[in-house]
Amino acid sequence: MPSVPAPSGSPSPHTWWRGAAIYQLYVRSFADGDGDGIGDLAGVRAHLPYLATLGIDAIWFNPWYPSPMADAGYDISDYRSIDPVFGTLADADALIAEAHAHQIKIIIDVVPNHSSDRHPWFVAALAAGPGSAERSRFWFRPGRGVSGELPPNNWQSIFGGSAWTRVTEPDGSQGEWYLHLFAPEQPDFNWGSADVRRDFEDVLRFWFSRGVDGIRIDSAALLCKDAALPDVSGSEVPGPAHPFMDRDDVHEIYQSWRAIADEYSAGDHGDRMLIGEVWLPDASRLARYVGPGELHTVFNFPYLNCPWDAQSLRQVIDSTLTLADAPATWVLSNHDVDRVVSRYGRSDTAFDLDRRPYFHGFAVDLALGTRRARAAALLTMALPGAVYIYQGEELGLGEVQDIPDELRQDPIWARTHGADPGRDGSRVPLPWSGTEPPFGFSPAGAKSEPWLPQPKEWRDLTVAAESANPDSVLRLYRAALRIRRSEPAFDETPLTWQPTADGVLAFDRHGAAGTTVRCVANLSPVPVPLPPDAAVLLASGPVYGGVLPPDTSVWLRVG
Ligand code: GLC
Repeated sequence: MPSVPAPSGSPSPHTWWRGAAIYQLYVRSFADGDGDGIGDLAGVRAHLPYLATLGIDAIWFNPWYPSPMADAGYDISDYRSIDPVFGTLADADALIAEAHAHQIKIIIDVVPNHSSDRHPWFVAALAAGPGSAERSRFWFRPGRGVSGELPPNNWQSIFGGSAWTRVTEPDGSQGEWYLHLFAPEQPDFNWGSADVRRDFEDVLRFWFSRGVDGIRIDSAALLCKDAALPDVSGSEVPGPAHPFMDRDDVHEIYQSWRAIADEYSAGDHGDRMLIGEVWLPDASRLARYVGPGELHTVFNFPYLNCPWDAQSLRQVIDSTLTLADAPATWVLSNHDVDRVVSRYGRSDTAFDLDRRPYFHGFAVDLALGTRRARAAALLTMALPGAVYIYQGEELGLGEVQDIPDELRQDPIWARTHGADPGRDGSRVPLPWSGTEPPFGFSPAGAKSEPWLPQPKEWRDLTVAAESANPDSVLRLYRAALRIRRSEPAFDETPLTWQPTADGVLAFDRHGAAGTTVRCVANLSPVPVPLPPDAAVLLASGPVYGGVLPPDTSVWLRVG
């Protein structure tokens, strides 16, 4: 393929992810092209111009593969195709080509920790019985107790309940158990199996050769388990930080994946990127995943979880920037967490996946949350590194906390018997236009309603309404992304902290041409003076009289 020069201000194709703005696209909820109430690839293709105008460099697609959808596509039955509800492989090929024509890269989700229980390998494992080669690709074990009636160990599923399910053997007897760190429909692969390793390498090649530019690795730190599968103590849930999971073998896997990515990076098309989903709390443990010849980068969840507090944010930013080998990533929200507008509108603004019910207990001040989320957007987009924007964040959508119980789809809701509301509230279909549901999400005359109900208040937050409103969150995101892309001070330059009052964050980015942009974020309860000689490039809220109001950020041209 001939080399296409990058448009001025865009990152070089060979390091494109280092400072990219990456839009996380949750296909089910982005845009419905065929009227079945579920988003699809036709819907995405129709809205590529929207994404190009927004000013993003890449799209990360949540899983689009054939799936029984027990966990919204994170239970995959075929890693080399597209679920019919989303379209066809030909649609994906066309989408990749069209996105590239808009200078937009494509990242796809690969889920290596587990498959679907309908994956042909798992179906074959059930049929083949105990001790078979087919079962060795998963974690089958006999139960404990007199007749094997107790699970092999005490591990709990991350989604609630036991991490083990007992199977009925081909002869009809109650038999072995299999491990699933998530839902029972998501059996964990045994990464000690050479078949598993080979097959995923082939999956990577399959998608890289179709033009995909990057892979987001789901649950990247969970793959390798201590094969003795020992009990954990007390109510611990074995997760990425647990010694039974935090093991060296996973790094060999990612080194081989990196070699494949490098092999496909050699052409003119640009480098292929690997990003891991690693929920680890501190930078030193994250650093192991981005060591030499491993993943290019990892998601920055400490930043996402951080409360709206200057000192805590400064700490997370500093420790993120110590990951010297990997460009930083900045994430305010994704499909697994409460939307940022709601988080920042509560009296406790931190977040923690394991304590979602606690956070849902707080009242949400949407106006306050929106003001802070706007300020956070400018702070985030001024930091050196890549920024991830979860669809709907650019519209300022809040978490939908009042979805009727009978419509909830997230397995977390059922597996915790309603104790944890789950993640549906951040996955509600986007509002595009019009004054009532489906707000242009589905075409006129659609035969089905959106798969989750949209709040009627979203009439003011549609893409059409916000495009027409100069004060909207969408207009702020567009402006910020435009400046971030064109301003030399935001090219791979480090940040330099500036002295400030308590509760305020201020740092400079110095461009090669001698231009400096300063970002000031006021997280304190009082207005703070701005430097007298500075010109405002962009502000997250009204700025008058040379002072920056509380919960407001500004980008200034200084020097
Ligand atoms: C990751 C995904 C989440 C999914 C889980 C199991 O955390 O982001 O949505 O449910 O893995 O695949």
